[in-house]
Amino acid sequence: MPANVLLVEDEERMRQVIIMQLSDLDLHIHEAVDGKQAIDAFENETIHLVITDLKLPKVNGMEVLHAIKEKDPEIPVIVITAYGSIENAVKAIQEGAFDYVTKPFKEEKLRSSVIKALQISRLTYEVRHLRQEIEDRYTFKNIVGDSPKICDVLKLAGSVSNTDTTVLITGESGTGKELLSRATHINSPRSSGPFLTVNCAAIPSTLLEAELFGYEKGAFTGAHKRTKGKFEVASGGTLFLDEIGDMEPDVQAKLLRILETQEFERLGGGKTIKSDVRIIAATNKNLEDMVEEKQFREDLFYRINVFPIHIPPLRERKEDILKLTSHFIQGFSKAFGRKPPEISDKGIKKLVRYPWKGNIRELKNVLERAMILCKGGQITSYHLILNESQEKSFEQMNIDTLIPMMINEQGITLVNIENYCIKYAMKTSNNNVSKAARLLGLSRATLRYRLEKIDE
Ligand SMILES: Nc1ncnc2c1ncn2[C@@H]1O[C@H](COP(=O)(O)OP(=O)(O)OP(=O)(O)O)[C@@H](O)[C@H]1O
Ligand SMILES: [Mg+2]
Repeated sequence: MPANVLLVEDEERMRQVIIMQLSDLDLHIHEAVDGKQAIDAFENETIHLVITDLKLPKVNGMEVLHAIKEKDPEIPVIVITAYGSIENAVKAIQEGAFDYVTKPFKEEKLRSSVIKALQISRLTYEVRHLRQEIEDRYTFKNIVGDSPKICDVLKLAGSVSNTDTTVLITGESGTGKELLSRATHINSPRSSGPFLTVNCAAIPSTLLEAELFGYEKGAFTGAHKRTKGKFEVASGGTLFLDEIGDMEPDVQAKLLRILETQEFERLGGGKTIKSDVRIIAATNKNLEDMVEEKQFREDLFYRINVFPIHIPPLRERKEDILKLTSHFIQGFSKAFGRKPPEISDKGIKKLVRYPWKGNIRELKNVLERAMILCKGGQITSYHLILNESQEKSFEQMNIDTLIPMMINEQGITLVNIENYCIKYAMKTSNNNVSKAARLLGLSRATLRYRLEKIDE
């Protein structure tokens, strides 16, 4: 597609010379003979580059430059000045012009300036377009659900988004922690800065340090050139520390220091680097338990647990299942170029009953498979392939089936049921009192007391 260039020049002969000189470039040139015409043309056409003489009748070139910069600061403007009036050219550059050429100009100078300006204009357009796409994808609006629990989450995230406060997002796998953290960034004053992710799990500590802090050439075998770390590159934006509960202890200590001072050194380098990043961390682990078990530094925990947001599992907000289902079906139908299929009543019941251990990610995958299997017809329960062991364990956990089994003809005392539950909770949480207390909805002190009673 040819680039649209607005050429503003009052002398007819000069316009012809310029058009001739640029004739082998793929351009569509709009001509304007004075400043007023230029500003009108800029409003009515999509212009990628402006070339303007500074000396013009009615509205002069400097005013044209101002008007264009005001409407769109990113459109490059090349100004043409008469030989000997270099101060005007300097002034125009200070006011935001991309480049200047002096009259009479050499052909090469104008051409190379136009080529460079168009490259920049194209990149700016592309970045803008991509950014818009990301912003559309990650707004809070795209976080589907209207259960009171998800509304609370969105309210919290909305209120913290326009601050620099560190956020800790917790929740089971697939609950939308990354989605929420991106939306928080997009809605922050840092949205035009970078959003970078570091997955702290599965990277050995030495590599993770290099990834976070960067390294100097020769810092270790294989460090061929100086490389910036994510803390440095994310400056002005947000750094998303995913799976922070899996970070090894020595890296935890270093992270604590940088969170406190916003300063760090690249590996193998003495220079202290300052960075300005907002931290959002996420984990599916219980960091409080990890602190108690000495697997996570207590000081680091307090440093990142400034504004905790817990995303509840899908089974605790079953009201959202249908909304999410129709959201994903719409999305897949669009991608497959099909009309969105209906789901049978039995299918819906199946979706609502299931415990969704993999949460929203699992729901999305099940629906994608169902979309393929139903071949454009109705989605029935037959197309919804669920994990059998999850379905079974859910049945076993179901209180309606449990109670009749426990209270048989001989009867059972409530104390025995409670003691059984306490012992079971202790066993499944590896004798960790805090974990077991949480499972049972008791305080730790109460559970300790009950355990002593059982032992008596
Ligand atoms: N409320 C929601 N509305 C729409 N899509 C959602 C919602 N929550 C999660 N998703 C989608 O579900 C998938 C999983 O979400 P995400 O990757 O954010 O989860 P996570 O909590 O980071 O999971 P993990 O702990 O496994 O990394 C993504 O495709 C995401 O877009
Ligand atoms: Mg994630």
